[in-house]
Parts: sequence; structure tokens; C-alpha cells
Amino acid sequence: MGFRILGTGSALPERSVTNDDLSEFLDTSDEWIFPRTGIRSRGICTTETLDELAVTACRRALEAAGVSAGELDLIICSTTSGDHLIPAEACAVAELIGASCPAFDLSAACAGFVFALDVADGYLARGRGERVLVVAAEKMSRLVDWSDRATCVLFGDGAAAAVLGPDGENPLALRLTTEPSVDILHVPGVAGSSPYDATERPASVLAMEGRRVFKFGVNAICDSVQALCEQAGVAVDDIDHFVFHQANERILSSAVQRLGIDNAKVARALEETGNISSACIPLALDRLARAGELKGGQLVVLVGFGAGLDTGACLLRWDRPGD
Ligand code: UT7
Repeated sequence: MGFRILGTGSALPERSVTNDDLSEFLDTSDEWIFPRTGIRSRGICTTETLDELAVTACRRALEAAGVSAGELDLIICSTTSGDHLIPAEACAVAELIGASCPAFDLSAACAGFVFALDVADGYLARGRGERVLVVAAEKMSRLVDWSDRATCVLFGDGAAAAVLGPDGENPLALRLTTEPSVDILHVPGVAGSSPYDATERPASVLAMEGRRVFKFGVNAICDSVQALCEQAGVAVDDIDHFVFHQANERILSSAVQRLGIDNAKVARALEETGNISSACIPLALDRLARAGELKGGQLVVLVGFGAGLDTGACLLRWDRPGD
């Protein structure tokens, strides 16, 4: 027994910032960014809060699922960039949508959505509830160093959610891994004002060894797909949709080539979103669902990877009622 996805939803900020917009204050250009990353623009929060984006994504997912906020038994929010350190972003979502169930955040960087699916699956399997809202909400624009052209051009803001119910067969396979490393992709915590703190207090902005993350990303995708297929006893060719973390088009195309899979089966959203960390996967999934591309019985692989270095991957059979 496992979960089924009952509905999905997503939301992007109103303001779309193009590569040309960035070149107005950074020594960069569309000619550098697009061929190396596949990114043309990204949504950046201006007047909207992350709470608001998350709530919009959740309301859309609840509506698609035909579930009311009052029926929810658990809310998990995957985020590393919430509007609040305390309380959890999930608590703000619960208050704004009018839910009264337990709510907490989960931090596994870009792999967070799949980690959250696993936690939700355990909650449902133990009979602790019947309806779980998993939302990934990220405001990367508050974490990046806007003077560092090598990183700030890669990221964007956004939120996406899925409502899970019981009595499904998912996940068919799941794999979470951590190759512990803090420095490769790191945002130091807030410095605070303790008069006793004698440690170094670096700025709370994102720093990354881009090339190392690139290699890790391609390996993470390829190893995960092979491992999931072995676990479930299916061939890679049997997979209908691949929804990988949207960090860089070149990571996606390297993985496609190495796995020998059909490029058309690989979901892509990053051209207009950039890397929205853990929101990438549910946003791409929501777009496929809303475009009617996910048919009942199809096999869908999700692979998220990023800071940690965490990788979260799962194989699902699409079994949303009505599809
Ligand atoms: O969720 C996971 C997040 N991680 C990622 O998405 C990272 C994956 N890594 C990557 O996508 C690539 O490593 C990057 C796209 C970040 C960088 O590509 P690269 O080919 O590894 O470039 P580089 O960092 O080695 O930089 C090459 C040159 C440098 O100039 P010099 O030192 O050779 O003169 C950089 O200063 O390109 C320069 N550069 C830029 N130039 C214009 C770096 N960023 C930019 C920029 N515009 N935005």
C-alpha cells in the first residue's frame, strides 16, 4: 500500500527577470548565460511574499485534488529560504489556507520535495492520516549573492505543491542518499547578535563550486535512474516521463546522453524559471499534469539533487483519479 497524488499546483512571481535585465547591473549577457545554462529568465519576488506564493500553489493543488484545507491531516513544506526562521513556513501556509493539522518544514535543499514525499508516505502508511499536503516553496533571490555573476543568474523564486492520499501503490521505488559535504554548495546561517559568539560570521549568501555540483548532478541523475529501475524491476525505456531537478540544461542533456533516453520524455521548465531549488520538480510535474501529458498508468521518475550533497529519487505510477 502506498500513496497516490490527488492534485498538483504551482505559482511563480509576477516579475520575470530576463538575462538582458541582469546585464544592466552585472557584467554578463544572454549570450553567456543561455548557452551555458538554458535559462532565459527567472521569476523574482518583488511585492509578493513567499508565504503568498506558497499559498497560491497550495490552493491550486487542493482545488485540483478536490480536497479542502480542513480535510488535511499534515502539511510538509520543503524550503531552505522561507519567510520565517521561526515558525516553519508550513505553519504560515496552514494559517493562511485555514488548516488545523500539524505542519512542519523539511530542509533537504533541491532534493527536498522527494524527501518530503518519503516522509508523507510513512505518515500515511502508519495510518496517521489520509490527506497530506506537500509544498515546496523557495525564494532563492534572498539567498544568492547579487554581486556574484557566476551564481545569481542561475536561480529564481517559486512554489509548487501536491496533495497526497492513501490507497495507491506509490512509490514503486525510492532512493535517498547523502554524500556529506557542506562547502560545495553552502549558505551560512544568520550571524545573530550574541555578545558571546566568537566564531567567524560569514555573510548569509550562497556560494557554490559550480563545476563540482555539475558533475555531481549528472552522476546523481544517472545513478538514481538505474537504481530505481533495478529496485522496481522495470527497464529505463519503460519510463514515460523523467522529471529531474532543473539546475542547468547542460546537466539535463549530459544525463540524457549518458542514459540513452528519449530527450522528449524529459520535463523542462528552467528556461523561464531558472533553478528554484526544491520547487523545480513539483512545478514541472504540475505543468505536465495540467497539459494533460500524464496518463493513468504511466511511469514517472523524479530525481532531485543539490546541497548536502543530497539526492532524492523516486519512481511513481501516475494514478491520479480521473487521468
Ligand atoms: O541546484 C544545484 C545548483 N547548482 C548548479 O546549478 C551548478 C551547476 N554548475 C553549472 O551550471 C556551471 O558550473 C556554471 C553554469 C555555474 C558555470 O559554468 P562554467 O563553464 O563552469 O564556468 P566557470 O564558473 O568556470 O566560469 C568560466 C568563466 C569565468 O571567467 P574567467 O575566469 O575564465 O575569465 C567566469 O568569471 O565565465 C565567467 N562567468 C561569467 N561570465 C559572464 C561566470 N559566470 C558568468 C556570467 N556571465 N554569468
